[in-house]
Amino acid sequence: MVILGIETSCDETSAALVEGQGEKVTLLANTISSSLELHSKTGGIIPEQAAREQLKYMLPVMTQTLKKASVSLDDIDALAITYGPGLIGSLLVGVETIKTIGYVLKKPIIPVNHMVGHIYANWIDNHIQIAFPAIALVVSGGHTDLLLIKKHGDMQLLGGTRDDAAGECFDKCARLLGYAYPGGPHISKLAETGNDKKFPFPRPMLGEKNYEFSFSGLKTAFLNTTKQHFPLLRTSLQNTKGGWDEIILADTVSQKEKQTLADLCASLQRAITDVLVKKTMKAAKEYHVKSILLSGGVSANKLLRSSFTEETEKQQIQLHVPDPALCTDNAAMIAAAAYFNKDIRDWETISADPELYF
Ligand code: KG4
Ligand code: ZN
Repeated sequence: MVILGIETSCDETSAALVEGQGEKVTLLANTISSSLELHSKTGGIIPEQAAREQLKYMLPVMTQTLKKASVSLDDIDALAITYGPGLIGSLLVGVETIKTIGYVLKKPIIPVNHMVGHIYANWIDNHIQIAFPAIALVVSGGHTDLLLIKKHGDMQLLGGTRDDAAGECFDKCARLLGYAYPGGPHISKLAETGNDKKFPFPRPMLGEKNYEFSFSGLKTAFLNTTKQHFPLLRTSLQNTKGGWDEIILADTVSQKEKQTLADLCASLQRAITDVLVKKTMKAAKEYHVKSILLSGGVSANKLLRSSFTEETEKQQIQLHVPDPALCTDNAAMIAAAAYFNKDIRDWETISADPELYF
């Protein structure tokens, strides 16, 4: 079964072709065009601008994907589309494109929840059969969610974040240091030479008997400690009148101070990782699962991956993590989710839902 997937929920325009057979999904082609660079100039995404970029790239990205895989629209068995959550203008571009193709070519359309899509990145080109039940941890810029999956189509949300998502915590802390979105990779890079025990940041909600998360207190602890060590930081940021991305703190400090910055980043990364790993492992134990599935942009983080590898090896649980290129937004994961959840809908009933949750 060949599925064409489209993903346009935020600032990435992506089209992908996957072929599903039994429990296996093979990636035939995946094209991603990102308007991220454009948004980094304004310090954040301007929704209308993101939607315009989606319009510009939608058809070229789709044509290129078909060409790369030498597949024609006639060869496609089904169409998959992200219908939420996301930015309404961006979502509409993909949703209306797929509806038009479906209507004209009389192809079945499967609408997919973007968050479920992230989880299904784990099935793409995975040679190991994923064993159920499984716990899925979705860690992205907007979400930190823990789910129990008993089988395809049977997902139960165990908990989410009460405030900032893990990715948002990385992004906002990185922003203080002068880095534009996405901040996670910058924190992670600085952390490489840092001592993760130097600053005892809190591990929010770790001891509580639920599967919820909260990262806003940790973010505040990082911001306060950083400001204590770099008192001039506040002034230099104020002077730029919101041009926070113009001064990269690490480029302006002494070697000794650079070490403090590295220690701060390493301690932050360790605190986030500890909470994510410990809560997920606790859920895995309680629900006697056979697998843990990581997904979302933050799962590209090396420390998170290695900590999960260590813990799951100890507990003899399968660990699945998508290829780093498939951790961030892409259409291949949307097509894979559609393959396992063939919830075909009539084009007239499909509409974008920016607030969609699990
Ligand atoms: O899933 P994603 O691409 O977009 C959303 O749907 O949000 O996730 C983006 C998030 C950002 O917060 C970014 O800082 C984070 O993933 N991220 C990382 C790393 N790479 C991306 N966080 C920590 N370490 C990384 N290596
Ligand atoms: Zn995403």
